[in-house]
Amino acid sequence: MSATLIDGKVFAASVRDKVAIHVARLKEAMGVTPGLAVVLVGDDPASEVYVRSKGKMTVEVGMNSYEHKLSAETSEADLLALIEALNADKDVHGILVQLPLPGHLNEALVINAIDPAKDVDGFHISNVGLLGTGQKAMVPCTPLGCLMMLRDHHGSLSGLNAVVIGRSNIVGKPMAQLLLGDSCTVTIAHSRTKDLPEVVRRADIVVAAVGRANFVQGDWIKPGATVIDVGINRIPAPEKGEGKSRLVGDVDFASASDVAGAITPVPGGVGPMTIACLLANTLTACCRSHG
Ligand code: GUN
Repeated sequence: MSATLIDGKVFAASVRDKVAIHVARLKEAMGVTPGLAVVLVGDDPASEVYVRSKGKMTVEVGMNSYEHKLSAETSEADLLALIEALNADKDVHGILVQLPLPGHLNEALVINAIDPAKDVDGFHISNVGLLGTGQKAMVPCTPLGCLMMLRDHHGSLSGLNAVVIGRSNIVGKPMAQLLLGDSCTVTIAHSRTKDLPEVVRRADIVVAAVGRANFVQGDWIKPGATVIDVGINRIPAPEKGEGKSRLVGDVDFASASDVAGAITPVPGGVGPMTIACLLANTLTACCRSHG
């Protein structure tokens, strides 16, 4: 491996430390404690792990955490009523509805019911529009974390060729908007892109968010490029013999880290930054709500 490792764990800890300092100041100066409400519908084990971890870190930076666990059979009307109540609650500055929702619930309807000022995920259509037009928005946490790591590593991103692989509303599209905002030349590649390796080879910055284990190969990477791996894929344990299941990214780390100039590991790269940015967004929402 010749690439520099971009350590998301260390970076995320420093972001959380800064958030904690601001939270303490806010409490002292104004008697206000930022509050984050997380809504989990159903009992998806992976979502439960994320929600627990979000709650723990929210409390660690001195914020109030409000968890709402609803059964998988919750009706849309009941979920919308809870969101209405959280929108009206002055102690709640950020609201996150954990996705995916059970199939009978309309995700877009639910997300767009959240007060945009409390939409710390940045998924509400108003925030999507604000980001797309370069205005002050709540920015989705995962792409925001990626941008922070890229800015930290490069300084200016101006003029660099960036290829985002994946076109999801949660990562790919907002990531492309953010890179464009930092004056990158941006390509969004996806499952229908022709000659993907050739497209990726032109990139100074590669952001992989496709959800396919070890998909991006080292010989697709331009020597010296920066590789941000958003993927979190669980590889099952071998049926026989030693070894447990393990997490890998969308990038084949072994081959890519021999060619890239810098790369994020999985785990310990983008993942920790996502939660740190969620806390930063909650702090921002709280500060904006108090002028
Ligand atoms: N499920 C997976 N990632 C996310 C996220 O960033 N926000 C929400 N609300 N749900 C998710």
